[in-house]
Amino acid sequence: IKFCYVENDGTPQNMMYLTGLKNIFSKQLPNMPKEYICRLVYDRRHRSVALVKRSGTVIGGITYRSFPLQGLGEIAFCAVTSTEQVKGFGTRLMNHTKEFARTKDHLSYFLTYADNNAVGYFAKQGFTKELSMERERWHGYIKDYDGGTLMEFAIHPKICYTQ
Ligand code: ACO
Repeated sequence: IKFCYVENDGTPQNMMYLTGLKNIFSKQLPNMPKEYICRLVYDRRHRSVALVKRSGTVIGGITYRSFPLQGLGEIAFCAVTSTEQVKGFGTRLMNHTKEFARTKDHLSYFLTYADNNAVGYFAKQGFTKELSMERERWHGYIKDYDGGTLMEFAIHPKICYTQ
């Protein structure tokens, strides 16, 4: 298994990974319009971390928008394919995403609107419902979205999340 940091740079390999992610998100997040998933996954301001099997098959991933000036990332989608859930991949995926965000994007925070059934998963990954960030830092950047719980994770600049 490997964790690949993917952006839309037009390379065939990355386009294949992004298409794999788009298909998993469409299936695992049925309340999200497919066009919306498509738009964000291929958007150049978004970054993704793909969980890829040895065979090359994508089995999960996370897509987030990076706001470099604010030092924050908004996790838009997070999913693992149904046959591979509850095996610990979701936790490893989040750890690698934190590590890429820290070392490649130099982000200080992640924010996400967690679906109600995913609040427990995000809480296990260290996300909290109380935001330590001042509202001015994120308001107007992060999309308002009802039906979810806004959660925050502060990325420590010196902690390695994958060891
Ligand atoms: N509620 C509560 N706890 C959960 C949930 C949940 N829905 N899902 C996983 N957990 C717990 C597990 O029990 C585990 O706890 P443990 O470490 O004490 O054993 C821990 O979280 C991590 O479990 P993993 O096996 O690492 O997680 P998994 O590989 O199953 O991935 C994920 C979790 C991504 C939420 C997966 O279940 C999934 O794809 N679900 C469907 C899509 C979804 O709901 N995505 C999030 C939507 S919100 C958004 O995308 C912004």
